[in-house]
Amino acid sequence: MTFLITAGPTREPIDPVRYLSNRSSGKMGYAIAEAALEVGHDVILISGPVNLAPPRNARFISVLTSDEMFEAAERHANESDVCVLCAAVADYQPARVSPAKIKKSGDKISIELIPTRDILQSLGRRQHRKFLLAGFAAETNDLEANAAKKLQEKNCDIIVANDARIALDSDENEVVILFGDGQKTKISRAPKKIVARELVKIFCKFATKMFDKKDVMITERT
Ligand code: CTP
Repeated sequence: MTFLITAGPTREPIDPVRYLSNRSSGKMGYAIAEAALEVGHDVILISGPVNLAPPRNARFISVLTSDEMFEAAERHANESDVCVLCAAVADYQPARVSPAKIKKSGDKISIELIPTRDILQSLGRRQHRKFLLAGFAAETNDLEANAAKKLQEKNCDIIVANDARIALDSDENEVVILFGDGQKTKISRAPKKIVARELVKIFCKFATKMFDKKDVMITERT
């Protein structure tokens, strides 16, 4: 199968030297990419700026802004069997990017922010899509209720819900997986590499069931 994975944060420019971003490390998305490659899948990894080496054998697309990530995901989604949107895409971007560095003055300033385009929601709206669509929900409260809302509103097949305070910049994660058919399952706290392997198995099983695709379980790449 071919996996399309988004990972890491995005950067929304304010002026030539400043941007808005978040603390996402990209570790979960990269771990899923590695886990998928390990068992012989193809991977298109669309990544925001992170301090991680791109996995060998992945098709790597480096992006900075939410707009660039949106365009790349839209372009490559139909080449994939499983889309895993793991990136912490900025929800807002400055309405205007100043072409020159904004100078300090003694006064208060404010920056007008406008919503970015939602990649997961946009892919979820595609008619007759032939790929499994999995999103992540990073929450600090009401984890399952918020994740269930995202599953429904973004019309995806799976939402992987995690506590942002556990997952952020950490090597470990603990997730609850909500399925479109109402089922749910949990992966207890473990290194992201282990959680990623379990997730890849779950995504493949679900994609195989949904689209009658052939599951490839090839021996590990050398
Ligand atoms: N997502 C996306 N494009 C955006 C925002 C979010 O594709 N512009 C995706 C994320 O990659 C993730 C899912 O939507 O798979 C949920 O992201 P999250 O940040 O948890 O939620 P938001 O929809 O941004 O809502 P909120 O910040 O209010 O929780």
